[in-house]
Amino acid sequence: MNEDAYTRKAFDCIAETYSRFPVVITKGEGVFLWDDSGKKYIDFTSGIAVTSLGHCNPRVVQAVTKQVQELFHISNLYWTKPQAQLAQLLCEHSFAEKVFFCNSGAESVEAAIKLARKYGHDTRGPDCYQIVCLEGSFHGRTLAAITATGQPVYQRGFEPLPDGFTHVPPNNVHALKLAADKRTAAILMEPILGEGGVHVLDNDFLKAARDIANDIGALLIFDEIQVGMGRTGKMFAYQHTDVEPDVMCLAKALANGLPIGAMLAKEDVMKHLGPGTHASTFGGNPVSCSAAIEVINQLTEPGALEGIVELGDYLMAQLRGLAKRHKVIKDVRGRGLIQAVEFERELPGLANHLLDQGFLVIVAHNRLLRLLPPFVMERKHIDLLIEKLDSYLAENT
Ligand SMILES: Cc1ncc(COP(=O)(O)O)c(C=O)c1O
Repeated sequence: MNEDAYTRKAFDCIAETYSRFPVVITKGEGVFLWDDSGKKYIDFTSGIAVTSLGHCNPRVVQAVTKQVQELFHISNLYWTKPQAQLAQLLCEHSFAEKVFFCNSGAESVEAAIKLARKYGHDTRGPDCYQIVCLEGSFHGRTLAAITATGQPVYQRGFEPLPDGFTHVPPNNVHALKLAADKRTAAILMEPILGEGGVHVLDNDFLKAARDIANDIGALLIFDEIQVGMGRTGKMFAYQHTDVEPDVMCLAKALANGLPIGAMLAKEDVMKHLGPGTHASTFGGNPVSCSAAIEVINQLTEPGALEGIVELGDYLMAQLRGLAKRHKVIKDVRGRGLIQAVEFERELPGLANHLLDQGFLVIVAHNRLLRLLPPFVMERKHIDLLIEKLDSYLAENT
């Protein structure tokens, strides 16, 4: 951090809810970031699965610039073309027929939970409000979202939590069958648990969840906030399977860095959220929507998703090579450009070491390296990271 350029006092005014690295980022372009001392970094985080098309993607910048010169904001009491166009594109590329717009992932999960409860009330009565979620999942930080999240660490101290959430282990069909009953309004899951350690759910488990939801009349909700928008090499992660949800949550990469969230559903489900039941002042803001339209335009160009698969395969091959050379690597897993390396033991200096060397990565609990590179990354950038990891692991394990 360049202390000359900023007073310490200004940073002290920010709430301390994050453990931040001592770096002030001032500029981004493609896969690169620069800090306030001019040091350059390669970004393997994409702002945690957000700036997937690269920092300041020129075509997104152009679309946003055009939109801010025309209209920043208008209330959802009125229609805007960017919102309608984005909703149509999202429906064309997914199972959905209707879209509710909000501003973040947690808000989109919150909207899905409200929809599930309303659907349960309307179709099966007021006792039908329970949401079955997965242990180890992550759904955001609002009260309902931390309650849906299957990690007690995010809930502690915020009790009493809202009623009506239950958790089962991922990939355990038997437990899911036991948990889902006449009170169950929805089954909620990430097709790939992202924050929980990049665990790709079994196809059979997803199929069973679909069948169970159908049997009892509950909704199947997929949280694709981290893995949607091309991250896995398909527009949406569920498209790798033959299972379709009834509801899907999106945010993060949807507008490549502008705030947006979306909750998608089939028409006969979404109709249960009628006028006045849910709202968001900024939801579907024309500027964010214009960015998101450009994101979908780029992802649907010939070869775009194939490029993600190809680069993902390359990254996976390099990480597997690394695992062969270093016994401390317990597992390498993921799909497309969301991948993780799990270590046998804690490596507390890893994230800071890579930062010093000019690489931004996400490390959880000192033993799980999560890589979410932007899709515009090149093989040579991956090679550079692998080189650094190779030498760090050789010296420290
Ligand atoms: C799967 C998933 N759901 C929900 C969220 C919450 O999104 P937001 O931080 O935009 O509220 C995240 C964020 O990491 C996520 O990965």
